[in-house]
Amino acid sequence: MQTAPIKPMKPWFQVIDDLGDHLDWEEFFGNDNPVELDIGCGRGMFLFNSAVANPDVNYLGLEIDYREGRRAASRLLKRELPNARVIGGDCKVVLSGMVKKHSVRAAHVYYPDPWWKKRHHKRRLFTQEFADLLAEIVEYDGQVHSWSDVADLFDIIRDLMDGHSQFSTQTPPPLNQPEHDLDYQTSFDRKKRQMGLPVFRGLWQRTGKKN
Ligand SMILES: C[S@@+](CC[C@H](N)C(=O)[O-])C[C@H]1O[C@@H](n2cnc3c(N)ncnc32)[C@H](O)[C@@H]1O
Repeated sequence: MQTAPIKPMKPWFQVIDDLGDHLDWEEFFGNDNPVELDIGCGRGMFLFNSAVANPDVNYLGLEIDYREGRRAASRLLKRELPNARVIGGDCKVVLSGMVKKHSVRAAHVYYPDPWWKKRHHKRRLFTQEFADLLAEIVEYDGQVHSWSDVADLFDIIRDLMDGHSQFSTQTPPPLNQPEHDLDYQTSFDRKKRQMGLPVFRGLWQRTGKKN
């Protein structure tokens, strides 16, 4: 019996160690279209839907869990989408060392892990340091989107971002009413909304002048 050849995951999935010291977007995507990041992209629903809907935008997912990152990438690979990729590894390593300052049009952080137990709160992604990293990599007038179903966690995110001197608070666009099972922002968005949980959403714009 003949089996279909397995398609290599590269370039849809790569790990940090496979990449050089810094990411040159033009080299990485093969064009100079704007770049948006999906930080903690999970299974890649946002990456896939956005890349299909906006072929002139490049999307990069960052995912510390390689298994989830590969799942996301295999979705992109099936359609051989040229404008979406996943990097496996800690987003903080990528954001702090590999991404050129003010080179990202938008950063999306959907449903970051709540780490419910108090002794685990220090593992939460969205901290002052993380907000400062976003301010460094997002271009002037660029945007940060973050959603969560966890009120306490969203309060922290909102306080950090509303209080940040380099972001201004914006009103997120109205929440869509999904028409089918893939018509959600992310997999977690689908799961939480189908459970009837609330969704808290934030949008912030990087302040400062474009050069
Ligand atoms: C609750 S899930 C949400 C996934 C996706 N954003 C969604 O809404 O369906 C949080 C994701 O963030 C990833 N994550 C947590 N810390 C991370 C880090 N430091 N760097 C990259 N990904 C991270 C987790 O592995 C997980 O897949």
